[in-house]
Amino acid sequence: MVFTIMVFEYLLLLFQVVVYKNKMKICCIGAGYVGGPTMAVIALKCPDIEVAVVDISVPRIAAWNSDQLPIYEPGLDGVVKECRGRNLFFSTDVEKHVREADIVFVSVNTPTKTRGLGAGKAADLTYWESAARMIADVSKSDKIVVEKSTVPVKTAEAIEKILTHNSKGIKFQILSNPEFLAEGTAIQDLFNPDRVLIGGRETPEGNKAVQALKEVYAHWVPEERILTTNLWSAELSKLAANAFLAQRISSVNAMSALCEATGADVTQVSYAVGKDTRIGPKFLNASVGFGGSCFQKDILNLVYICECNGLPEVAEYWKQVIKINDYQKNRFVNRVVSSMFNTVSNKKIAILGFAFKKDTGDTRETPAIDVCKGLLGDKARLSIYDPQVTEDQVQRDLSMNKFDWDHPLHLQPMSPTTVKQVSCVWDAYEATKDAHGICILTEWDEFKKLDFKRIYDNMQKPAFVFDGRNIVNADELREIGFIVYSIGKPLDPWLKDMPAVA
Ligand code: UDX
Ligand code: ADP
Repeated sequence: MVFTIMVFEYLLLLFQVVVYKNKMKICCIGAGYVGGPTMAVIALKCPDIEVAVVDISVPRIAAWNSDQLPIYEPGLDGVVKECRGRNLFFSTDVEKHVREADIVFVSVNTPTKTRGLGAGKAADLTYWESAARMIADVSKSDKIVVEKSTVPVKTAEAIEKILTHNSKGIKFQILSNPEFLAEGTAIQDLFNPDRVLIGGRETPEGNKAVQALKEVYAHWVPEERILTTNLWSAELSKLAANAFLAQRISSVNAMSALCEATGADVTQVSYAVGKDTRIGPKFLNASVGFGGSCFQKDILNLVYICECNGLPEVAEYWKQVIKINDYQKNRFVNRVVSSMFNTVSNKKIAILGFAFKKDTGDTRETPAIDVCKGLLGDKARLSIYDPQVTEDQVQRDLSMNKFDWDHPLHLQPMSPTTVKQVSCVWDAYEATKDAHGICILTEWDEFKKLDFKRIYDNMQKPAFVFDGRNIVNADELREIGFIVYSIGKPLDPWLKDMPAVA
């Protein structure tokens, strides 16, 4: 009997070793907002694949291995808990996992260059290049290398050159598989993507690689939603999609200025416009401006590519999307200052929301940074509350130079001084106590449910609300006694005839 059990256990072990050995292995370099959630969902949906997410940042990997994940994303905790230790691993042993992988996703930082050729527009491919050189260095078997992070068009070609010139006979196939998830809804987006895009070389080897990656996604994505293109089309589609989305927001924000000037209501206008099935209702919410790590960076990239290809008119066209976004943020600051007797010097302003959108703690390129800097420029005192953003992050953001945010954490400059006029609190009521005005900069659901009567009673008078996300009921707040500014809505009598143009 004992012998039979031993034989059985041995056979089981042998079976596991064989299966384990034949298991496809995926490694993702970069455990950030894209790499982490994407790989967690691949691991969940493909139990037959072993997925390792690697990063040079020790604290980031430690956090992925803990109960306190490094990013806040609804639904992510559950997915990670189900797969971590089963077929999902987070590690700092970058080389080992890359060496063992069949498919290597690269999802590292691609900051905007701050100096040299293309400064302020072109992508800095330092991290990408070093990842590619490392892959070439440590590989002992053929690999598919997948661009996951957004990169300029033709990056694949550059990466291909690095890999093939250092390959020692190993064959690399490079694919572009841009990620379209939006933060705050990343898990939903990954579970049910509008499309998965895979670009590859149009050669037999290229097609084989595309097919291999397609099979990974086919575990849960319907075949007709997996689009395959050539490499350049895939790379450019990502930039184009983000540019189109950002353009819609700048279009509606431009309309919001005109609405304020004419007495029209931007919500009514965008509803009417969006009812046209050719236009559709999404991404037409007027706001204080778009933020996030992608839109501005990708458009700048697009602009640079157009300029490099001798297309200045096309470059100018896309530049305008960013100009309107900057104009919208300036306009908002000017509304605040001009409404409050043309000065906010030493006045307490409550900032509700600092993240670039709700349901994320991400502050990259958040409009809150520019609005806060504008108010600080006029010597305001800021009391900031965001349910997911720490004081440390706010201080970093307010003292960092443009584009510095997009480097691995340990390479970001430490904030030399804390901005003294800024304090962060963990409650909207605390933030608004004794304040002269409130700026709502992120559309967190909890802000819609605040007791504004209680807030009003504890504020200086006249009490102002500047709603940068159009989430409060302005009429109700006016009933309470507030002076209210809502983006693109008919103006409060108080605000009429006050200059707000940047
Ligand atoms: C975006 C793209 O949507 C996604 O496909 C891509 O992969 C990455 O970039 P993300 O930046 O995470 O995703 O969020 P998104 O929902 O697109 O919002 C971007 C910014 O636009 C936010 O600041 C948001 O508040 C703002 N926005 C969005 C508006 O101001 N109005 C809208 O109607 C929609
Ligand atoms: P994204 O939003 O595109 O996911 P993040 O900045 O959140 O971007 O993540 C990029 C990650 O890539 C960071 O955690 C950074 O530490 C990591 N990284 C950058 N370069 C390398 C590299 N050469 N090897 C491993 N990880 C890297």
